[in-house]
Amino acid sequence: MTDAAIGIDIGGSGIKGAVVDCRKGDLLSDRERIDTPQGGEPEDILDTVVELFERFDGLEDDVAVGVCFPAIIRNGCTMSAANISKKWIGLEAEKLFEQRLKRDIHFVNDADAAGIGELRYGAASGRDGLTVLTTLGTGIGSALIYNGVLIPNSELGHLEIDGKEAEKLAAASVKDEKDLSWKEWAERLQRYYEHLELLLSPDLFLIGGGVSKDAGDFLPLLELQTEILPAMLKNNAGIIGAASLAAG
Ligand code: BGC
Repeated sequence: MTDAAIGIDIGGSGIKGAVVDCRKGDLLSDRERIDTPQGGEPEDILDTVVELFERFDGLEDDVAVGVCFPAIIRNGCTMSAANISKKWIGLEAEKLFEQRLKRDIHFVNDADAAGIGELRYGAASGRDGLTVLTTLGTGIGSALIYNGVLIPNSELGHLEIDGKEAEKLAAASVKDEKDLSWKEWAERLQRYYEHLELLLSPDLFLIGGGVSKDAGDFLPLLELQTEILPAMLKNNAGIIGAASLAAG
């Protein structure tokens, strides 16, 4: 595995990137961020990723690059678009990023990248059984890891709970939009994680996304049978996981 790789995490509100030490799973550079362009159109996102990438000059030309994206990714194509433009559906996105960045890249779902980050360097490392990582952000992303192996594209943010899509009920963006208190939001999370428990009987839940830095405000309010912990790599899990996958 090479030591340094770039990870780029495309989200519903921000596009973030950093140079990652792939032996340790640490950031070697500052974390750069540019707002996701309004509407999330393919051309605009590609332009923004190029702009972000150019901030990491001075690295070797063949530095590995991993890009993670908030959609189902199959064979390098984006197959869904919940919080971005519908124009992504069916696009050969990996190829488009490779053309614009002028190199091979590793392209993966954002929550799956976070899952790999936690598996290789964080809270899922060395854990047997089923770990379910959920990222709470603009939407809800999920990564299923069973005995150290990722099962990709699980998309558990789109489960229906009481007639509503889970991410429309309990994403961190819903807390902000509706100005919910931690307690009010935790009631929605309780409903969601209870449902996941019923379906999957996991051994560990991990909570990622920007709000994981405030885990102390809401995790103690949840009463679940399953151990539940914040992601150790916090909101950098996607960047670190994508870079690590690119490095090999
Ligand atoms: C998307 C997922 C993504 C999640 C978090 C959902 O709306 O369908 O692919 O992982 O948001 O960004």
